[in-house]
Amino acid sequence: MREVVAGAVISAGRLLLARRTYPPEVAGLWELPGGKVEPGETRGGALERELAEELGIEVAAGEQIGVGVPLREDLSLVALAATLVAGDPRPTEHSAVCWVDADALRQMAAAGELVPADAVWLDDLAGLLT
Ligand code: CDP
Repeated sequence: MREVVAGAVISAGRLLLARRTYPPEVAGLWELPGGKVEPGETRGGALERELAEELGIEVAAGEQIGVGVPLREDLSLVALAATLVAGDPRPTEHSAVCWVDADALRQMAAAGELVPADAVWLDDLAGLLT
């Protein structure tokens, strides 16, 4: 069983989203950025590494947000809150990043612009932004 950890990075009352480029099913949709937890890593350590690699930012990982979401038989997804410590996100693997407030997040979810797994956390995320 492997885990993917995604970060709810909040800065100045806004949530960081990143637009995926692959696989085709989710290309163009927005997600909480993250990646797979490697053997021997903590969830928080994996998130801090992935966001440094993918976006060039330093974050401090915090508590889990919402429920875990099964992605496949052997893969599940968890979200952690994270605070931005340093840097301005510059995507290397994503096509774009944006910062959203609760209203914008809800509008994107209603328009089907979030990756399906992350849409499960809509109320949890909106709650952090109000
Ligand atoms: O790059 P790495 O293989 O470590 O991870 P990834 O490709 O970013 O994510 C692995 C899987 O988790 C993919 O199927 C993503 O679609 C999914 N994922 C997700 O559903 N929501 C996220 N916030 C992050 C990843």
